[in-house]
Amino acid sequence: MADRHIHAQASEVLGRRIQLGLFPTPLHRLDRLERALGFSGRIYIKRDDQTGLASGGNKTRKLEYLMHTAIAEGCDSVITAGAQQSNHCRQTAAACARLGLECHLVLGGEEPAAYGGNLLLSSMLGATIHFSGEHRKGEDIPELAKNLHEQGKKPYLVPYGGSNLTGAFGFVHAMLELAAQLQQLSIMPDYIFIASSSGGTQAGMHLGIMLSGLSCRIVPVSIDKDETGGHSIEDIVQALVTEGIQALGLSKSFDPQDAKLLHDYDAAGYGVLTEPERQAIQLLARTEGILVDPVYTGRAFYGMVDQLQKNPMYAGKTILFWHTGGFPAIFQEQYAQALGRALA
Ligand SMILES: Cc1ncc(COP(=O)(O)O)c(C=O)c1O
Repeated sequence: MADRHIHAQASEVLGRRIQLGLFPTPLHRLDRLERALGFSGRIYIKRDDQTGLASGGNKTRKLEYLMHTAIAEGCDSVITAGAQQSNHCRQTAAACARLGLECHLVLGGEEPAAYGGNLLLSSMLGATIHFSGEHRKGEDIPELAKNLHEQGKKPYLVPYGGSNLTGAFGFVHAMLELAAQLQQLSIMPDYIFIASSSGGTQAGMHLGIMLSGLSCRIVPVSIDKDETGGHSIEDIVQALVTEGIQALGLSKSFDPQDAKLLHDYDAAGYGVLTEPERQAIQLLARTEGILVDPVYTGRAFYGMVDQLQKNPMYAGKTILFWHTGGFPAIFQEQYAQALGRALA
């Protein structure tokens, strides 16, 4: 009885969604990569680079929940923020275009002479772009919201990275999608590697594991060593999971140790492509024909490869790499030069 009640509450919450992507995304094995690494277990990939919204990515899932709320609240415009190569901002621009909402993006740094990668796509998708100098994590959103209110508009505020609980529900939903695919394939990953940066994807996955009863462990690879609004990602994830347990009516507790990120690969700083990351990107491109990006998935993928090669805990295990998208950043000049050199 209690379980049925929990299930009903969770499905009501998870039903507050507007479809923006094409789901389920593919899940398949990377056998040539396994052989190239000499790995004794199996490696699978979940293709959220194929979500179908203006070149895909994990943020499509969050936006299905965030945009549902924006429309339910009668908003006519959306504000969000990020770095100039933000995939989240590019996908928000695409979601707004699809739903007929005005999109405002607050992007760190100064306006470049030429637009490339995600910045180019965000602009093509019709977003109004506000360059915010040093502020790359949404510090200027309240001021812009005030200006839009004064113009008689009703903006919906999407936090940095789309990482509030509403956005995180997208990844609770994703884990239910994964559970169905795993059942069909009769496999169960021991570990799921993901890029974690603003925390919403990771938090949603933890909640989705609790809800679906999957037995796998998340290995969140830290992308950005800087804090967000004075909080560590661990704190943000823990707060979101605690809030989510209530909202979904789960009778489970969350061990803060599970929120811990793998920080071994973030020392170079956000968006700085290191040589081993460049080589890992090239390895996946040349063994499987799959592109990962120089900021998020390239770093997480390198982290996974490094761990599988040096940490005996992973030997013989079933591993899932969750591709969270982001490849348009490859075409930003600085990355194109570094990656193009690799292919020369
Ligand atoms: C391609 C890609 N992967 C992973 C992430 C990390 O997701 P989250 O911000 O929810 O931690 C992002 C965030 O921008 C991203 O763009």
